[in-house]
Amino acid sequence: MHVKAHDEVAIRDALGRALRDLRISITDRCNFRCTYCMPKEVFGKDYPFLPQHAVLTFEEIVRVVRLFERLGVRKIRLTGGEPLLRRDVERLVRMIAEVPGIDDIAMTTNGSRLTYEKAAALKAAGLRRITVSLDSLDDGVFQAMNDVSFPVDRVLQAIDAAAKAGLSPVKINMVVKRGVNEDSVVPMAERFRGTGHVVRFIEYMDVGNSNGWRMEDVVTADEILSMIHQRWPLEQIPARTAGEVATRYRYLDGQGEIGIIASVTKPFCGGCTRARMSSDGQLYTCLFGGKGHDVRAWLRSGMSDDEILERIASVWSHRNDRYSEVRTSETARLPRVEMSKIGG
Ligand code: GTP
Ligand code: 5AD
Ligand code: SF4
Ligand code: SF4
Repeated sequence: MHVKAHDEVAIRDALGRALRDLRISITDRCNFRCTYCMPKEVFGKDYPFLPQHAVLTFEEIVRVVRLFERLGVRKIRLTGGEPLLRRDVERLVRMIAEVPGIDDIAMTTNGSRLTYEKAAALKAAGLRRITVSLDSLDDGVFQAMNDVSFPVDRVLQAIDAAAKAGLSPVKINMVVKRGVNEDSVVPMAERFRGTGHVVRFIEYMDVGNSNGWRMEDVVTADEILSMIHQRWPLEQIPARTAGEVATRYRYLDGQGEIGIIASVTKPFCGGCTRARMSSDGQLYTCLFGGKGHDVRAWLRSGMSDDEILERIASVWSHRNDRYSEVRTSETARLPRVEMSKIGG
């Protein structure tokens, strides 16, 4: 297969979708045990997290980034688990920033290790944007959700630290689960109105097989929107980039914007240009994938860049995933990779 030169749309999948974003999970470990992601009953003391040799090295990750760039990727997001648990992650950011053609590097973190010094180091290394997860401003609710008694205040400090280090606007991700934190939606909107930061409300998803997902637990995008709209009227605004996962709304009173990520009730597979690498170097073409492609084996077998590139291109050209659009009780029972391994 001939791979086209830089800056051309090199490949399309079986449904005509280009490859633009690569989301890389750099560790499967996390210091939180969010009930919707790494419930303690499953991710307990004896959970077999990946041994170090199974996890891609920074050098391997950057090689992967270079290859994906040749196939059209422009945007990299580092996730986990918790990416800031990986030592010296700013070195990785710097290495990725040096890859020609990569014009956006972002990170999704729980904020627990995000001091001002860390944020400044990440910024200096070339990180452009950061997303901090925060599910409630109520300590009781938040601590029950992260399940390790991590206080709200320290996440708020992390958000401030990121902004102060120039990583603003900060995005704040809130997963909304019925009966758990839906009462936190309006306070969250209120707290960040007028700050320049952007809260994104996320429908609770059936990622992985551990979280016991039920449709009844999903607070829908329409419900979330109407809760906020009743207090502070909103209007929808156009997507900033093609294939953006959040629907954007602005406050009519000029106090900023929010996003709603409705992957359950309004799936967005049609514009999905995202590939994902798990921490052990498996390539997934969908967040809900059951089985990855073993890029790590290719990297470690002495194959040339061109050989690996051909294989990745072939995986992408055969891709026909659109899980969220075709979810049925049948597909919902299939095994799926855990969110902590594949990243959000
Ligand atoms: P930017 O647009 O670069 O700011 O990033 P983003 O909106 O992708 O940010 P983030 O990584 O914070 O993603 C937000 C959430 O959207 C994730 O945590 C997931 O819950 C959801 N999400 C992201 N990508 C996909 C996807 O491809 N499919 C589905 N179903 N959900 C996704
Ligand atoms: N549904 C929706 N979002 C989830 N996240 C983790 N698990 C789920 C789920 N089951 C979110 C996290 C974080 C991002 C990486 O993904 O809260 O913001
Ligand atoms: Fe950790 Fe994020 Fe999963 Fe929570 S959602 S357990 S912070 S990886
Ligand atoms: Fe992309 Fe799969 Fe998410 Fe659909 S469900 S948007 S195909 S990752």
